[in-house]
Amino acid sequence: MTDFQAFAVEQYLSETEHGVHYNFSESGVHPMTYAELFELANINRDSLFATLVDYPQVNGSQVLRERIAALYSQAQADNVMVTVGATEANTLVAATLLEPGDNVIRFSPTYEQLAGNAHNLGFEVRTVDMLSSEDWAIDGSGLAAAVDDRTRIIHIVNPNNPTGRVLSASDRELIITAARRVGAWIVADEVYCGTERNTDEPTPSFWGGYERVIAINSMSKAYGLPGLRLGWLVAPESLIPALWRRHEYASITATMMSMELATAALAPRARDAITARARGLIRRGFETLQEQLSFHPGVFSVVPPQASAMSFVKFDLPVSSDVFAARLLAEEDVLLIPGSRFGVEEHFRFSSALPDEHLRAGLARMNALTGRILKGT
Ligand SMILES: Cc1ncc(COP(=O)(O)O)c(C=O)c1O
Repeated sequence: MTDFQAFAVEQYLSETEHGVHYNFSESGVHPMTYAELFELANINRDSLFATLVDYPQVNGSQVLRERIAALYSQAQADNVMVTVGATEANTLVAATLLEPGDNVIRFSPTYEQLAGNAHNLGFEVRTVDMLSSEDWAIDGSGLAAAVDDRTRIIHIVNPNNPTGRVLSASDRELIITAARRVGAWIVADEVYCGTERNTDEPTPSFWGGYERVIAINSMSKAYGLPGLRLGWLVAPESLIPALWRRHEYASITATMMSMELATAALAPRARDAITARARGLIRRGFETLQEQLSFHPGVFSVVPPQASAMSFVKFDLPVSSDVFAARLLAEEDVLLIPGSRFGVEEHFRFSSALPDEHLRAGLARMNALTGRILKGT
């Protein structure tokens, strides 16, 4: 029996996040209220209130799957299955694709949802590095060496969590070439697509770039609607029934209300307004973060994230990432994620797509603790 591997990042979040005042540990843009969502998506309360509190269509309503398919080139509603967040999609994919003797490639640092599931199901997980010395580009020769004819899945989070790196065209090509060589699936978790900082052009999906792709996304990160618990996967039509059969065991379905609200939020006008809100928070938040990180010269540095609401900040202090995070929480009521949870020391993950005043106040507290650590107290 394989040793159970806990989900390090999510365990840390679920044990520490509630009740903290300055929460910089999340990875999506600041969630919106229902009131904001109703306004941005022009939702009519009366028609929403007429919704039955019933099971919806289990694989996702037709209209929602059509709206999702329209976000991809050459996808139809029948390529889409709606899930309970990207979380369920990642879990179903591991349970559906892997067969005895298979291995899975993951990149590090990354969000380990699919890899953790694969490990806990008893499959070998092989790690390929993303290189901090090269602004988190992938280690191409490491990838080529790790992939063999028992590699069933290459799992990529693009844009990446925690670094915010968007794969370069050449890194994408390396991944497609490695997958094609052995007929592996590319499972692309694209929840940060649409959160780009320097361009309004969304990160291209892997869907359409190679025959064996499953693209995963959700309303949680780029849309600021994590509480909807609504995600999806896009896969070749022939694979959908096998995924759907496992979905019936895992959750049966997302909820009727979450499907209604996601359908409204993905209508083109509403989606534009929601994306504009997210980009505003992401872009201003990172500027504030950068400004505040320079308060103690030489202590903090960061490869600017190309996308996402978070940064993977490097620090030069005589404490581990766990101690830094624990002291911040205990002494300053500030929460971030220590790099140890991603297997990388001297780093922390920091979410900055938040209201500016709150962000500044929390960063001032982080700088105060940093000052004390520098003085040896
Ligand atoms: C890369 C990635 N995938 C999936 C998830 C979970 O997404 P959801 O809320 O849609 O289940 C997260 C959450 O942090 C994430 O970072």
